Amino acid sequence: MDPQEYSLMFHVESTHWWYIGMEKITRAFLKKMDVSASPRSVLDAGCGTGSGMSTYLVDYGSVVGVDISPIALEFCRKRGLASLALASVTEIPFPAESFDLVTSFDVLYEQAVPSDTVAIDEFFRVLRPNGYILLRLPAYDWLRGQHDVNIHTARRYTISKVKKLLSESGFDLLHISYANTLLFPLALTKRLLERIFPPTSPSSDLSVKIGVFNDVFKKILSSEAPLAASMRLPFGLSVIALGKKQSGYE
Ligand SMILES: C[S@@+](CC[C@H](N)C(=O)[O-])C[C@H]1O[C@@H](n2cnc3c(N)ncnc32)[C@H](O)[C@@H]1O
Repeated sequence: MDPQEYSLMFHVESTHWWYIGMEKITRAFLKKMDVSASPRSVLDAGCGTGSGMSTYLVDYGSVVGVDISPIALEFCRKRGLASLALASVTEIPFPAESFDLVTSFDVLYEQAVPSDTVAIDEFFRVLRPNGYILLRLPAYDWLRGQHDVNIHTARRYTISKVKKLLSESGFDLLHISYANTLLFPLALTKRLLERIFPPTSPSSDLSVKIGVFNDVFKKILSSEAPLAASMRLPFGLSVIALGKKQSGYE
C-alpha cells in the first residue's frame, strides 16, 4: 500500500461508513463460531493499523497482529497494542497450532503477498484443530479502479475462487457470501465513470468526502450484516468466508 494509505486508514477507521458497516458484518460472521471453548487466541494476519484488533477481536481472546509494514505496526502501537510481529502472512513467525481463530481482512489481494495459497496454508498451519478462519477479500478482477492502484492490488476474488483456495488448504467452508451488495450499483457506476474520465491525480477512496452520505451508506451497509451472515448474497464488492480446520484433518 502507498505509505499515506496507513495514515488515512488510521484516521477514518472509527467514522468511515465502510469500516463501521464491515465491522457489523464481520461481527455477524464471528457469531456463527462455536465459542464455548475458552480461552481463545486470535491472530489478525495483515492487521493494518489495528482497528479490528482493538475494537472487536479482543472479544475473542488475546489478539496478536502480524503485518509486513512497520508503518502499520507503528499505528497499532499508538492504539496501545503490543502483541505485534513484523512479518509476512506467507511466513508467520509462530509455531503450528498456536491460535483458535485467524482473521485476515483485505490482505491477500495485495502485491506484497506473493502467493495467497501459501498464506492460506500458513493460516491452516498456525490454527489449532477446530480453529476458525475468517477472510475478507475484494471482489471481481473486472472491478479494478484507481483505489486498486493506490493499495497495490494484485488480484481480486469471486466466491468460487475463495472456496477453492480454502478447500485446497484443507479447510471446511462454514459460510461464504458477497457483501457490500446494496451499494454495488453505485460503486460500479463510479468505476465506469473513472474509466471514461480518468482522475487527473491519484486519490484514495478513503479520502473522498461524502459528507451527509456517510451516515446513509453506514446504515445501508450495516443493514446487510444479518443477511450476509445467514444467506449467500449473489454479488457485492467483497467476499467474506468463514472456514474451520476440523479436528480430524489429515
Ligand atoms: C487494506 S489493509 C487492511 C488492514 C486491516 N486488515 C484492516 O482490515 O483494516 C492491508 C494490510 O495488509 C498488509 N500486508 C500486505 N501484504 C502483507 C504480507 N505479505 N504480510 C503481512 N501483511 C501484509 C498491509 O501492510 C496492510 O496493513
